[in-house]
Amino acid sequence: MNYQWYPGHMTKSVRAMQEQLKLIDLVIEIVDARIPFSSRNPDIDKLGNGKFRLVILNKADLADPNVTALWKQHFAEKGIKAVECNAKAPGLAKTMKPIIAEVCREKIERDKKRGILNRPIRAMICGIPNVGKSTYINSFIGKAAAKTGNKPGVTRSNQWIRTGANVELLDTPGILWPRFEDQTVGMHLAFIGSMNDQILIVEELAADLIRFLETDAAGKLEEYYHIEGVSADSEHPEAALLEQIARSRGFLKKGDEPDIEKAAAQTLEDFRAGRFGRISVERP
Ligand code: G4P
Repeated sequence: MNYQWYPGHMTKSVRAMQEQLKLIDLVIEIVDARIPFSSRNPDIDKLGNGKFRLVILNKADLADPNVTALWKQHFAEKGIKAVECNAKAPGLAKTMKPIIAEVCREKIERDKKRGILNRPIRAMICGIPNVGKSTYINSFIGKAAAKTGNKPGVTRSNQWIRTGANVELLDTPGILWPRFEDQTVGMHLAFIGSMNDQILIVEELAADLIRFLETDAAGKLEEYYHIEGVSADSEHPEAALLEQIARSRGFLKKGDEPDIEKAAAQTLEDFRAGRFGRISVERP
């Protein structure tokens, strides 16, 4: 299967972002902690040049904490502070306040020397679709004021939202696009549900996911679905597993035929919701 992405208003969105970047001190880049490589566009390094930087490894509640720790180290080696986050959890502003103060220490000290106290740090949230930008903004400001949904290229007048952390957030997040250097990036985005399933063949995507899980998270599927699993020399292990999942869930068609499509969709849904446990798809 060919994983593709239709970036739409990419150029327009970059231009808008370049304009907005002039106004800010800090770029808060949100990535998905399960796939920090595939869910970020490294162009942000160029776009955010000269700004303070913070990477949020979001949806960390769904990722393997040991792997997330490796990612934090990976970004630290590049000179970028990265922190794990669950944007759906309460108290985000409180956790972020000291982290942002640390990242922007230079500016705060510079201000202090000039006699300026508590000038808010102006920050912009950015990231590819579905990483949790709106959830993060809403959680940060403590009420549902930020708009959910993605509208790349839509320019509104910039508005600053005050937070309790001496930070002002630009109300519209900068929308980046994933970088498709190879098919793996597309596949990983599809695993976590960041590609439109309607343009994908669900059975094939689930087979790719099962192949990954059987290698990197062996036993999880068998445990969750109470299935016996397949032997290593099975000719079509993914198909055999999908059939077992269908039977164990009672997804049957006429004549006791397993409903493979339904089993595939269920497997994807269960993985995306973290029901097999906290699994990271990518390691640094
Ligand atoms: P975006 O602005 O970057 O496009 O992302 P958005 O905030 O719309 O979030 C995309 C989905 O990810 C939402 O789920 C949201 O609830 C979920 N999400 C965001 N942050 C986290 C997190 O830290 N952990 C977990 N587990 N989920 C997170 P949805 O199913 O599209 O919406 P809803 O059913 O939650 O309302």
